[in-house]
Amino acid sequence: MTEHEVLRAENIAKGFGSVTALRDVSLRLEKGEVLGLIGDNGAGKSTLIKTITGFHRPDEGRLLLDGEETVLKSVSHAQSLGIQTVYQDLALVDDLSVYHNMFLNAEIVRKPFPFLNGRAMKEKTRQYLADIGVKIPSIDTEVAMLSGGQRQAIAVARAVYSDAKILLMDEPLAAMGAKEGAMILDLVQRLKDEGNVSIILIAHNYAHVFEVCDRVNVLQHGRITYDKNTGDTSVEELTELMVSEYRKARAGGEEE
Ligand SMILES: Nc1ncnc2c1ncn2[C@@H]1O[C@H](COP(=O)(O)OP(=O)(O)OP(=O)(O)O)[C@@H](O)[C@H]1O
Ligand SMILES: [Mg+2]
Repeated sequence: MTEHEVLRAENIAKGFGSVTALRDVSLRLEKGEVLGLIGDNGAGKSTLIKTITGFHRPDEGRLLLDGEETVLKSVSHAQSLGIQTVYQDLALVDDLSVYHNMFLNAEIVRKPFPFLNGRAMKEKTRQYLADIGVKIPSIDTEVAMLSGGQRQAIAVARAVYSDAKILLMDEPLAAMGAKEGAMILDLVQRLKDEGNVSIILIAHNYAHVFEVCDRVNVLQHGRITYDKNTGDTSVEELTELMVSEYRKARAGGEEE
């Protein structure tokens, strides 16, 4: 490993019954970098993220954090080690308010009495959402009443402001309008400039990948098949890589 490697996955395999989602995945994440992870639908990207976040236990392989082999026992164990995640399938609690969701499992406690400090949570929530630039009718609203993009904004804000060392973002822009998406990308750029957090960003939009990522990995057939600095590749090259397989299959495997 290099001196600044915060995360390394080695030979990770994960199956669900007869489905092999991850066959043999190895990747690394350096301190302060943003790594783009791309691949077809069903390639195993979310499964890989959920393995790094302590949700799935890998069938084979190992994870190293700061060079030390680590077995993640649960999501909260991973969180305690500084790994925070924006899940593709968001994981907000529908019948709690916006601000309660923002501080789920990390409620601000006012000492010496351990009760929730509602006012502090509300203030912080307002500030975080204003920082991201996403408008929400009221932070007292139950999240069940929000739009997909507003929910996504809360999930992003929650992860981003958690002091994570490693931030895993599984398609954080998927439900976002163009303006809000640009704001999230700006936020990622800002975190990157601060240099304290290392990020894996899953995105289907390669333009987004090129906007903020230092490096890109492609997940195909349960393996990382491609690893380049974004400066050494292009949207065209990645598109060609992803589409050529389909073209070959359609041509009956006769093309090179
Ligand atoms: N909990 C599960 N139980 C059974 N099969 C699963 C489970 N989670 C994922 N899979 C399967 O594993 C494979 C990889 O799924 P995964 O969600 O990791 O793909 P993905 O790359 O994130 O796709 P997308 O781009 O559509 O989000 C798929 O075939 C999926 O059906
Ligand atoms: Mg996914």
